[in-house]
Amino acid sequence: MITAVLRIALALWLCHSLMARADDDSLAALKAQFQRPATVPHPDNNPYSPAKFALGQRLFFDPRLSRDNDISCASCHAPATGWEDGRQRAVGSDAQIHERHSPALENLAWASALLWDGRTPTLESQVWFPLTAHDEMAQDVRELQEELQADAAYVAAFDAAYPGKGISLITVSAAIATFQREIVSPPAPFDHWVAGDETAISDEAKQGFALFTGKAGCNACHSGWRLTDDGFHDTGLPASDDSGRYRFSRDDGDRNAFKTPGLRNLARRAPYMHDGSLATLDDVLAHFNGGFTPRPSLSPKMRHPALADGELNALRAFLDTLNSDGGSALPTARPD
Ligand code: HEC
Ligand code: HEC
Repeated sequence: MITAVLRIALALWLCHSLMARADDDSLAALKAQFQRPATVPHPDNNPYSPAKFALGQRLFFDPRLSRDNDISCASCHAPATGWEDGRQRAVGSDAQIHERHSPALENLAWASALLWDGRTPTLESQVWFPLTAHDEMAQDVRELQEELQADAAYVAAFDAAYPGKGISLITVSAAIATFQREIVSPPAPFDHWVAGDETAISDEAKQGFALFTGKAGCNACHSGWRLTDDGFHDTGLPASDDSGRYRFSRDDGDRNAFKTPGLRNLARRAPYMHDGSLATLDDVLAHFNGGFTPRPSLSPKMRHPALADGELNALRAFLDTLNSDGGSALPTARPD
């Protein structure tokens, strides 16, 4: 009799510990999907060099890139505001209001398409848009070339970065692209947890991660270490004149679809979404918890998870663990 009870107890214990191990294994596999890469990729046609980085950084912060010499890239993409500008929508030359919110420039070395609608494929080609757009820097390209050519320090810096190639839109944009690829969110508590430090985040944040990857279904779109699938989705914000990706793809499936933003360093990046229409993270969570507009183009991945207040708090606690230890740090040049 006693041995029979013992046998059952042993079987139960074995079963329980096997299940626990299976849970541990699936959590480990899930965590592995969020592991940070060790190096930053640069393309073969514009490999990294410290000279290009230094030149790109200088250009990025130089207001001479705008027509009236009053706006630099950093005016709308400032490190202190998470490489955004803290405004609902961007304000360019002559106080022109842009129709969209300035996106954060972190971790774009891994991005497969740029801008909220993905209409440009590379960082090199993207630079032309803000430089010349009337509601951004409104620059005349020849004038910019002359201005930079008149500055001996720039002439020397271009020569060091791109020997014999001179100052052109190609070298200007290649250098700025090299600098931008190095804008990588520094490690955050979440990364320490993924790397194995169980004490790096709270139990509430761990519950939030389980919701994010489970019931709330956020990782259907916010996947991988950058927390984006690089995809385009209609998440049901109120309709406007801006039809998103549809505007250039003319594919009905792209109506109201915008790029999935990464979710690192959200603390500094309010307001949120392509139109800056959601002021706080709680507003964003309320949106994804069912506060969106159903319509034919709405992504089938959008759920009504009906999360309770405690669950929303847990999701918030998880999102907070994505804030880098040192904030949105300015990158530094690395040795060749
Ligand atoms: C007046 C504000 C403003 C200025 C100045 C500005 N940008 Fe932007 N930037 C924006 C806005 C707004 C968008 C989104 C536009 C869109 O999606 O159509 C954007 C998008 C981007 C993106 C795409 C990011 C992504 O996640 O897809 C990059 C890269 C970028 N800008 C880099 C730059 C660089 C480099 C400069 C300087 C040459 C610059 N920006 C100047 C407002 C600005
Ligand atoms: C169907 C894909 C999809 C799902 C599911 C999804 N998101 Fe998003 N998320 C997006 C897209 C696309 C945007 C930008 C939409 C826009 O601006 O029009 C976005 C924007 C955000 C933003 C604002 C970021 C910024 O830079 O403005 C946050 C925060 C966010 N999502 C968190 C979440 C959370 C938390 C969940 C789960 C409760 C979730 N998302 C579910 C696709 C998705």
